[in-house]
Amino acid sequence: MTTSDLEKLKKDAALKAVEFVRDGMVVGLGTGSTAKHLVIALGERVRAGMKLRGVPTSQETGALAKQYGIPLIDAENRWAIDVAIDGADQVDPQFNLIKGGGGALLKEKIVAASAKQFIVMVDHTKQVPVLGGSFPLPIEVIPFGWGNTACAIEALTKSLVVLRERNGAPFKTEAGHLIIDVHMNRIDHPGELETALNLIPGVVETGLFVNRTHIVLVGTAQGVQTLHVPRK
Ligand code: A5P
Repeated sequence: MTTSDLEKLKKDAALKAVEFVRDGMVVGLGTGSTAKHLVIALGERVRAGMKLRGVPTSQETGALAKQYGIPLIDAENRWAIDVAIDGADQVDPQFNLIKGGGGALLKEKIVAASAKQFIVMVDHTKQVPVLGGSFPLPIEVIPFGWGNTACAIEALTKSLVVLRERNGAPFKTEAGHLIIDVHMNRIDHPGELETALNLIPGVVETGLFVNRTHIVLVGTAQGVQTLHVPRK
């Protein structure tokens, strides 16, 4: 599959996601290349007269939403989000996710946690039998003492930890934090790992999204599959 094939599948999933947005809704707007297709498509709905308001999960998404005419809710407000829609880096069969490839995981998790419904859009290559392996787990940490925090993460996960860099300098999140990418072969118990990581001083948030997703829209060459959360 070429990059442009995958881009088309992401766009297909995003266009399907738009069908879940109804007039008057408050919509959590994800971040990344898939979410970009969503924002553009929602902008078209707004131009056609749909009333909706967005809560963006990054400055990038906020700027795009403004460009496409989507009214935004003040970030300091308390929101009642009807549906949050976002991309992901990996999805397992229980709909647990790895997110944060773009570094927006903190706002993304706050918005997903505040939404009545959380919908994830992926191309089929992001479906995995178990999280980990091909994609490292991003963990957002406070800069103060980050080396010690990274050691504690390494000791817990027994995996290679790498400080994320961009253009030869440490990557900074919008909140001014750092990202540690943890290269785990497999994450068999994502819920337990998320809890344990969040207990390490200095960890702000992890890219594990466990038991949060209601619907996964999977772009495939045969069309978009709509998957509802498996019953426990
Ligand atoms: C942003 O921090 C991420 O969580 C993205 O949602 C995720 O990396 C998916 O990105 P793409 O849609 O660009 O693949």
